[in-house]
This record gives sequence, C-alpha cells and structure tokens, in this order.
Amino acid sequence: DSSDQPYRTAYHFQPRKNWINDPNGPMRYKGLYHLFYQYNPKGAVWGNIVWAHSISNDLVNWTPLDHAIYPSQPSDINGCWSGSATILPRGKPAILYTGINPNKHQVQNLAIPKNMSDPLLREWVKSPKNPLMAPTISNNINSSSFRDPTTAWLGKDGYWRVLIGSKIHTRGMAILYKSKNFVNWVQAKQPLHSAEGTGMWECPDFYPVLDNKGPSTIGLDTSVNGDNVRHVLKVSLDDTKHDHYLIGTYDIAKDIFTPDNGFEDSQTVLRYDYGKYYASKTIFEDGKNRRVLLGWVNESSSVPDDIKKGWAGIHTIPRAIWLHKSGKQLVQWPVVELESLRVNPVHWPTKVVKGGEMLQVTGVTAAQADVEISFEVNEFGKAEVLDKWVDPQILCSRKGAAVKGGLGPFGLLVFASRGLQEYTAVFFRIFRYQNKNLVLMCSDQSRSSLNKDNDMTTYGTFVDMDPLHEKLSLRTLIDRSVVESFGGEGMACITARVYPTIAINKKAQLYVFNNGTAAVKITRLSAWSMKKAKIN
Ligand code: FRU
Repeated sequence: DSSDQPYRTAYHFQPRKNWINDPNGPMRYKGLYHLFYQYNPKGAVWGNIVWAHSISNDLVNWTPLDHAIYPSQPSDINGCWSGSATILPRGKPAILYTGINPNKHQVQNLAIPKNMSDPLLREWVKSPKNPLMAPTISNNINSSSFRDPTTAWLGKDGYWRVLIGSKIHTRGMAILYKSKNFVNWVQAKQPLHSAEGTGMWECPDFYPVLDNKGPSTIGLDTSVNGDNVRHVLKVSLDDTKHDHYLIGTYDIAKDIFTPDNGFEDSQTVLRYDYGKYYASKTIFEDGKNRRVLLGWVNESSSVPDDIKKGWAGIHTIPRAIWLHKSGKQLVQWPVVELESLRVNPVHWPTKVVKGGEMLQVTGVTAAQADVEISFEVNEFGKAEVLDKWVDPQILCSRKGAAVKGGLGPFGLLVFASRGLQEYTAVFFRIFRYQNKNLVLMCSDQSRSSLNKDNDMTTYGTFVDMDPLHEKLSLRTLIDRSVVESFGGEGMACITARVYPTIAINKKAQLYVFNNGTAAVKITRLSAWSMKKAKIN
C-alpha cells in the first residue's frame, strides 16, 4: 500500500478514505477513548457531513465503528456539524452538536447513548426536543454564525454552562447558554467573551489550567475553579484559519472571562500551533490527571491531487497540554503513549556541528520517524542583529534554511532527497534584539516538493525562552506527509504538510544542518523509526 500512497500517514489519525475535518466529542468512557470527527462519506472534499466514530485504548491505535450521528431529523437534516461531549453525573455521556435544519439554519442538538452498558457507545439517540438552542427573531443570533458547542461545565449554583461560537458583524463571540437539566437551555444576557474585528469564532474551547508557578503538567476537570486556577479560551478564527487562545480569569458569579491579554493585537495573540492546525478541542482525563488536545490538519495539496489520492485531512498526535510556569503561555507535548511505536533507536554522542556542516542521521526510516535533538550554543556574539520587530513567519520566509546566518539557522532537514532537490527544514535562528537573545523557530517548506501545485508556505514563531539557560530542544514527528515539530520542550509547535516527489518512502533522508557561521553543539540526538499504528 505504501509505495503508491506515499503521503498516507502511518501513525497520525485518518480514516481509510475521504474527507475528514474537526475532531468532535472526544471522551473516555469505561476506559475506552472515543473520537468522533467531521466526515464526508462520499468523497475527498468537504460535504455531506456526519459524525464518524473510532475507539482506542491508547490514543494511538484506533478501531472504526459505524457512523454515530448522521442526518435523521429536521434539526440536522442538512448536516451534523461540530460539537462536544460532556460527562453528566453518574458517568452519563451527552453530546451537543450543531445541526443544519431545513432552512439551512444552524441549531444545537442533544444526543445520548442508546445503551449505556455498551462500552462502544455504538448507537446514539437524539432528543425529541431538538433543537435545544436556535436563532430566533428576538435573540439577535445570526443563523449562519451559531455553531460548535463546547463541553459544558457545572457551576456551584447547579447550572450547566455551554459556549456556542458566533459573531455579530465583525465581532466574534462565545455565546453562553445555561441549563439545569441539560435539555432546557437559556441564553445568558452577555456572551462569556467577545472581541471586535475577529470575525466568526468557530469551535470554542474553554477550560481551567493549574497555575502553581512550578513545573506541573497536571490537568483539571472542566468544571474546576478557585485558587491557583486560570482559564483558557480557545477559538478557531474563520478569518485567519488559526486556533488562537487567551489566558485569563473566569468569574463564575458574573459569567465573564477576562483575558490577561486580549485580541487587541491579533498579530501577537498566542496560537496552539504556528503551522497548519485548526478546530482543535481538549478533553480532561480523570485517571491520568491530564488534559489532552486534539486537532485537525488540512492538506496543503491541490484539490485535484486530493481527489486523486482519495482522501484529505488528518488529526495531529494527541498532545498533553498545560500552563507554563511563567503563566504566560501553554505547553504541549505528544502523549507518552506514542512512544510505544518507537523502534531501532539511534543515539549520538555529543557532537559539534561547524558552520556550513551537514550530518546525515542514518539508521532510521526517515519518512516515518520521531527525532529529538538538543543544541548548546555559546557564540552569542555572532547572532544576527534585529533592529525592529518583524512578524516571525515573515522573518522565517525571508531567512529560510538556505540563507546563511550567524547563530543559526541550525536544525533538521527532513524529507530530504540525496541531492537536496527537495527538503523541509525545521530550525532555530538566534537574533540579538533589544539587548536580548531572541529565538526564532521556523518550518521552511519552500523546497519541500518539486510539485509546485502544493502550498509550500513557510511557518515560524518566536520561542519565549532564554537560550543561555534553557535547552534549545526540538522534537519532530515525521510521518510520510506530516512534519509536526515541538520547540523548546513544547513551548512552540509548528505542523506542516509536505508532498515530496523524490524524497518519499526509502528515498527520504534525514540530516542535521548548521548554516550559520558559529558552531553549535548537539548535546543530545535520539531518533527512532516509527512502527505503523493500527488506525481505522
Ligand atoms: C470548523 C467548522 C465548524 C463546523 C464544521 C463543519 O472547521 O467549519 O465551524 O461546525 O467545521 O464541518
């Protein structure tokens, strides 16, 4: 299968064929993970949307089941769009999702398991009271901008609360609804939060994180609030096609979220991922005390190419997510279960990479690998000087891997062909900016494929770390058409899709490179070939 489908992933979530978008209603029930997702049963482009369903023991291997939710009643007859699961008291799962009604209006529906004793939760019944939330003449809600309910949370007052993504003109907002019984929902007077100029908020997510000013990866249940708790509001901005998040304070008495830094400067609003990544959603896992983030990555190939290969869209590796000890941003790391796929490790002793040098990493299947590398840098005097702030993505595209620097660019060349006609570069470049060291992380796709029909945009972000005292580390998950990178121990993530024409299957190669004038030292390199996961 692999040689004629070189881009099909080996360990990222995807269906056997056709179009996939958002992860929906992830939950853990009787020890099993359930993942639903937006799916077109009829083709490799968006349309005919149902909730497809897979289950897993470990978030790595997945078994497909029949579609769980599909058009069957007036309130969803034109599509079953995104939504979330909530575990109600006594462990009862409930799904709220957006249905498209006969008038093509977006409304919110409830579905519950037909048989709670079936651990596979194969069949779902829809509430006869659907829709439970709908745009009306009086509530001022735009019927084409009212979708994607969150997981609900419970206040001490006994009311469940849920957010629905929306907008009024160009003001994006998270509309709040409350309910005592999960069936009768009343719209709150004000949205939980809104921001002018941000456009439609898709797939909101709202959850607490632990702020203990120390190293802790512990996650919190969605209804938790109190001391040492901050809240995260994530929205998928339809205008930018990015997942942005705000960290702030949630006043549950007033039902208002106040971010530390708002959307005022949308250029610098934090993102989960600075590459291609959208419509994500988190779940809290009781037993493991962690919060896990799931997200969708669209193709970067042309629609005709997608139709030819018969599929489009993947999900990222589930990532544990927590608040950094600075309190200023989140940190993400692939779930530890992924490491069960690692085989044939390659470990390097400490090694200096001189300016202009390129070292091949042999002994791994370079089209399907997990690589961790850490660098030590000393010659800060050789860092290029940046005299005014530049958007990091633009900086990365101006100064790609081929552009010589001082302290960097250094990092990995993945999916590289022997003559370097093709490669994708994931690297750091350190600048001197306002008398500080500024770390730029880039994923440079500009040479990723000889097929110019692909979107080969370069991505980049600054990493808020001090390269003098902290490890300049990079972990890159390489999977046939995915390059999913974690810089600075998960401080910055960049996911890219690439479609090499030469550097595929066994012809893909992996290198460490340094295109700066200063030497850098590799203090750790561990690389593994990755086994194929059992996915659908
Ligand atoms: C986000 C989104 C959601 C919508 C769904 C439809 O990618 O547009 O807002 O519910 O996809 O498939």
